[in-house]
Amino acid sequence: MSRFLVEGGCRLSGEVAVQGAKNSVLPILAATVLTRSECVLLGCPHLRDVEASIRILRRLGCCAQWEGDALTVDSAGLYRADISDLLMREMRSSAVFLGALLARCGRAEIAYPGGCELGPRPIDLHLSGLRALGAEIREEDGGTLHCTAAGLRGCEVVLGIPSVGATENLMLAACGASGTTTIVNAAREPEIADLQDFLRSCGASVGGAGSSAVTVEGGHPLCGCTYSIMPDRIVAATYLCAAAAAGGDVRLLRAEERHLSTLTAVLREAGCRIDADGASLRLRRSGRLRAVHPVRTAPYPGFPTDAQAVLMAAMLKSEGATVFEENVFENRYRHVDEMTRMGAEVRVSGRVAVVTGVERLHGARVRAADLRGGAALTLAALAAEGRSEIAGLAHIDRGYEDLGRDLRALGAQVVRTEEPEP
Ligand code: EPZ
Repeated sequence: MSRFLVEGGCRLSGEVAVQGAKNSVLPILAATVLTRSECVLLGCPHLRDVEASIRILRRLGCCAQWEGDALTVDSAGLYRADISDLLMREMRSSAVFLGALLARCGRAEIAYPGGCELGPRPIDLHLSGLRALGAEIREEDGGTLHCTAAGLRGCEVVLGIPSVGATENLMLAACGASGTTTIVNAAREPEIADLQDFLRSCGASVGGAGSSAVTVEGGHPLCGCTYSIMPDRIVAATYLCAAAAAGGDVRLLRAEERHLSTLTAVLREAGCRIDADGASLRLRRSGRLRAVHPVRTAPYPGFPTDAQAVLMAAMLKSEGATVFEENVFENRYRHVDEMTRMGAEVRVSGRVAVVTGVERLHGARVRAADLRGGAALTLAALAAEGRSEIAGLAHIDRGYEDLGRDLRALGAQVVRTEEPEP
């Protein structure tokens, strides 16, 4: 069982480069299936979720090879279109392989991706959109989806929710459809634009990403490419909130404020000084933070749900009370109980959490229950006096290449211990 040992109370200083974006590289890895050739992904983060996708690609018959932080995927050898329950359970966002496999092979068989720590993770919008494009999808009782598509045909698909995964799945399927597909009420996250840019680099005709209407002209043969993955805006948000929580003066390289403006606005309101300089962001915080207006999570360009926990960590010692409203996922306050073990005052009622700032936090033994909540507990430990232990690092490793390394680069006292499993 690996743990972080954190000695809190140190102000942060220094600079760190932000890794490639998990939520961009995962759909792009699925998209490599469309090219039947070699794609080189530069700036690819070494993450558990990326390794899970690599296992799926290799199981399908593709080759995948690391060279530093460049990952080369060759999908020429793909010979099957089924993804086992075991592989699907490792990462529920593997549902995005559905669209790519239907476009490439005309069939796909995947185990129904279960829920996760954040609550049920339905894919009804994915399936209804794929059916609109002509896929036949049979849901077997055991939770296997049998999908076939004699020929996908482009059409207009309206999403009831601007789902990131459904938008990405439909973009990939539409690349294999004849004619034009328009995804209405598409998700507008920056990772959608990164997927569009990757697909364009492979020769696809895709437009509108970043707006709520994405259009794909299907049927173009796609070729391999070399592509640089965008920086991870949620990792950048995490490090900004680390400096806000611990105090200090940090610079993030490869962090674009335009992708984080809702968060930087809140941090400025709380009393942080943030200066943007092209692709880097500097945050300074000296005095005590003050409470801010209610923080309501929403699809992009609203406040990102993935930054809710780490901002909460930064606000635990602020002056006054801050209201959080989690509107995207049902169960995204699992970090709260653990934060209260450090002396935080947070009350949760349904989708609302009220943080009443305290003067001091004290170290404690806590356990991560999900990816962003685990990162948030680590940030809270930086702001606490004394020693904290954070267990459950496997959650954190899904989305952060090396959170301990990066926080140490900023002066934090964080070490990782690998204890043998009991
Ligand atoms: C992506 O998840 C991200 N994951 C999540 O990041 C992120 O929190 C989320 O988008 C929202 O920004 C990846 O990109 C790999 P959604 P996704 O489909 O695609 C409901 C992290 O920490 N919904 O936009 O699963 C769904 O239940 C992770 O990095 C349906 O009802 O998110 C949720 O309430 C966590 N039916 C809401 O929509 C569907 O068919 C948003 O989900 C699909 C989604």
